[in-house]
Order: sequence, then C-alpha cells, then structure tokens
Amino acid sequence: MNDTMKWWQKTIAYEIYIRSFYDSDGDGIGDLNGITEKLDHLKSIGAGALWLTPCYRSPQADNGYDIADYYEIDEMFGTMDDMERLIHEAGRRDIRIVMDLVFNHTSDRNPWFIESSSSRDNPKSDWYIWRDAKPDGSAPTNWRGIFGGSAWTWCEARQQYYLHTFLKEQPDLNWENPDMRNALYDAASYWVKKGAGGFRMDAVTYIKKPEFRDGVPDYGDGMCAIHNMTANTEGILDFLHEFKDRVQKGNDIFTVGEANGVSAADLPLWVGDKGVFDMVFEFGHVVIDLKDETNWAERRDWTLKELKHLISESQKNTAESGWYPVFFENHDQPRCVSHYFPSDADRKMTGRLIGTLMYTLRGTPFVYQGQELGMQNVSWNDINDYNDISTKNHYDFLISEGYSAQQAMEAVHHFSRDSARTPMQWTAGKNAGFTTGIPWLKINDDYPECNAASESEDMTSVLSWYRRLSVLRDQHRELIDGSYLEIMKDNDQIFAFTRRNDTHEAVILLNFTGQAVSYDKEIIEGAELLITSADHTKGRLQPYEAAVFERRV
Ligand code: NOJ
Ligand code: MG
Repeated sequence: MNDTMKWWQKTIAYEIYIRSFYDSDGDGIGDLNGITEKLDHLKSIGAGALWLTPCYRSPQADNGYDIADYYEIDEMFGTMDDMERLIHEAGRRDIRIVMDLVFNHTSDRNPWFIESSSSRDNPKSDWYIWRDAKPDGSAPTNWRGIFGGSAWTWCEARQQYYLHTFLKEQPDLNWENPDMRNALYDAASYWVKKGAGGFRMDAVTYIKKPEFRDGVPDYGDGMCAIHNMTANTEGILDFLHEFKDRVQKGNDIFTVGEANGVSAADLPLWVGDKGVFDMVFEFGHVVIDLKDETNWAERRDWTLKELKHLISESQKNTAESGWYPVFFENHDQPRCVSHYFPSDADRKMTGRLIGTLMYTLRGTPFVYQGQELGMQNVSWNDINDYNDISTKNHYDFLISEGYSAQQAMEAVHHFSRDSARTPMQWTAGKNAGFTTGIPWLKINDDYPECNAASESEDMTSVLSWYRRLSVLRDQHRELIDGSYLEIMKDNDQIFAFTRRNDTHEAVILLNFTGQAVSYDKEIIEGAELLITSADHTKGRLQPYEAAVFERRV
C-alpha cells in the first residue's frame, strides 16, 4: 500500500441530503440527530466521509442552497449542539463530516444582501453584482438563469438589477471584492475549526463573471443560457488559489468542487498539487443522454463506448496528479438504475453493477443516499406532487417552448431532482421508517421491497453487495492504489479495466447489457474470481453481471 495516500483517498464518501435521510423528531423532515442515529448503517458500507448538503440557516427557497447565515444551523435540522455531537460521534467511528460551501451566492435574506441592496453607497454595496438597466429599462444582458427566467432581478431601492445564476432568491456574490472574499474564507475556516474534514464547493465554476454582454438566443424566449456565458471563465483559478491558500493550507481536509463546465482536459489545472481542489465533480457522464443540458426533453441515444471514453479520459487526466471523485448520483441527478438502464432491467443487477464500478475505479467513491439500496426514480403524474422548484420551472419552460404536457411530464420523470430526493427507505413499515410524521415529500412506492432492513437480510441485495464491496476494497489494496487501464475499449457491451499495483492486478468486467455476452478468456488468465453478482462461467457474463478477478503480478 502506497503510504503517501491521504485518508480521503482510501475511504468511501457518502452524500446525505439531510431533509430526506432520517427524521429523528417526527416533523417529517430529516435532521442532524437522524444522521447520528444511522452512523452504523453508513459505516457498514465503508463510509469515512459524509458530505452533508447545506444545513445552515436558510429560507429554503432552494432547499438550503440559499444561505442566510454561514455560522448557524437551521432549526429545521437541529442545533449547533447536534452538529457538534454528530461530528464527535462520527469521529469515534472514523468518519469525518464534509460541509457544503455555497459560495457563488447567498440567500436574498442574508444580512449581507439586505445591506447591499439597501442603497448604492453602503459598506457592502459592492458585495453582489449590481448593474444598471439597458437604456430601454430591460435587464443588463439576456442571460437565462439555470432554473429558468431572466438571471437579473430589479431592485427598487437601488434602481439597479442584481445577477442570480439560480433563483432570484439566490443573488450572486461579487468575488472581485476582497472584503467579501475574506468574509467567505472566515466562514470556511470557522468550519475547519469545528472539525470539518472537507468541503464540497457548490456551483463553483460560476464565481468569476466575464464581460457582461448579450449571448445568442438559444430558445424562443430570446435569452441565452447563463451557463454558456459564465461557466469556467478566464481568471477563475486565481480566486480559487487564494481560497486554497487561505482555507486549506496546513489543514488535513479535502476539497471537491462541483465543476459543471470543466472538462476532463481541464483537469490538470483544477486538481492536484498545481490545481485548486483535491477533486472535482465533472458532469460529462451524467449528461450523456441529453442533447442540450438546458433542455430535459431533448434526449439522445448514447453508447457504452462513449461512457467508457468519458470516464477513462478523467481517469487518465488524474493519473499523475489529482484524484477522481467517482459518482453516478447526487441530489440533482436521476437515480442511476433508472438513468442508465431500460425500465425493465432488474434494479438489483444494475444497482450492483454500478456499485461495482463505483468501488473499483481509481478515486474516491461518492455514494449518494439510497444508491446503496438501488433506489429508483419516481414517475408521479401530477406536476404538483413535485416539490423541486427547478422541476416546476423546467416543466413550465418546456410547455412554453411548445412541448406537450405528456412530453414535459416524461422529461420530468427522467430528470427531476425529486427522484433523488424522496425519503430514504429504511424499513418496510409506515413511511418506509423515515418518519413517524408526514414526510415532506412522497415516498417511492417501491419501499416494501427496496429498504435497508429487508436488504440487510437478503444476501443478494444491492445493500449486501455494497457491504461486500467495501470489504473487498480494503482487502485488495490495488483497488485503492492501483493504476487504471482500460481494456476491451472497442467493446460496446462490456466495461472492462484493470487496477494494478506492485503486487496485484484486479480485472473488472461489467456487462452493461440485458443479454449474456462472451469475452476472451485470456483476459482473466491466471486470475482468481473474487466476486460476481451472477453465476460466473469463464468467458461469459450474464445479463448485467459484475465480476472482479485478481492475479499476482
Ligand atoms: C448545485 C446544487 O447541487 C443544487 O442542488 C443547487 O440547486 C445549485 N447548485 C444552486 O446552489
Ligand atoms: Mg426532523
């Protein structure tokens, strides 16, 4: 085992969407004490870092991604004492807490914004992005926010517009202002002192704003997607180097940036010794089935070869320096068993297939809550059953673009963020054991079969598989420190690769199709089968089978 490896490279990270994880007080909303109660479940799949989605004080316009105070816990989730207890109890199990830093924007109820918006000459007047209207009174540019509508909102008091990449309740901070940047670094350092083990940096590719000019309209509303104008623009890395210096230096913590707009080719500038973060989440492989990321109705057919290529490029570009966060789900993405496979595929097989890929690629796996159960998307027929504001806005956008209600609903079924946000399924009992109260969001109907308690008893379940994978990773260290090599590149049915260190080589074979597929036995010459999700016959993989072999080198 390579001893220079950091703790966060050797562990499993797990993302918790707090309001849907476990409700300890019966108010229908998951909370911090709920996490503390479930630490043993998390430990059982190997989790050593828990990324918590924002639990700071917030009006919850975007479920916590609109922060009113970086130093306080929202009472819906508990108290600072609860947080300290969680950090402590997790620490006793060798699990560290990772905070979500939302530094591109705040809530419009944050005192910083209230002050900034009160006049043009207050001390914080320049902490957000204010611009005059165009001569005809319209918004400074034609940018469409990520959640729909203009990215600018008018402020009466200042007689100016402010910019918001997301909702109007989420005004963008002005990173050009050094006082503002210091205030953010102070907040982050406060959490380091509290014992945080790392940070996930929300929407961080949008912090540097380019020149304010109109873009070419991309849809009938005359606007252009803000992402195409402001993501990953010149100069952004200077800010992030400063962040790294001021917040991370000298502390044993890791950072992972949400880096929409950063491609595999950019990785060397973003991660590793010379980069700004330890890891970044790229999105190429999760938007593989969209023609245009800003329109859920325009899906495209994708091939396994494309998926393999995207992942292999990222593996290659983090091989020398930097590290890769392996993820297929998060609180903004569809469930992987629904996303990458036909609806009639067996979720137990596909859930284990993706789990195997997660735990055997080179990098730190980021499991999203419920993924370890093989939770699936929901397909509610009434748009009013959905809670997520971006889902509702996107539905309206599709209707205004001329899609039928049925087409818009289909798009929602595939991509709504609520599919990932339905409450975690703990038992086959009432409310899937998530709450004794009324859950804030409907529970997926599949809970009687798909839940942690039942799956713990079933050795063939997705959960039991994740538990085995966690042990496998610990026992076969090439899965942690080995190099990655893609094999069978041109095969469009099997994802195959090796992981090799000084003593061992693992061979991983994943059948992404619903048919049995043959492969050349030579690939596993001299290797012993470590684990398989089906009955393995050498030279042939069963539908959706995942198999891991190992040989000495
Ligand atoms: C990305 C977060 O993951 C998402 O949930 C949120 O809505 C946006 N950033 C805005 O903060
Ligand atoms: Mg609660």
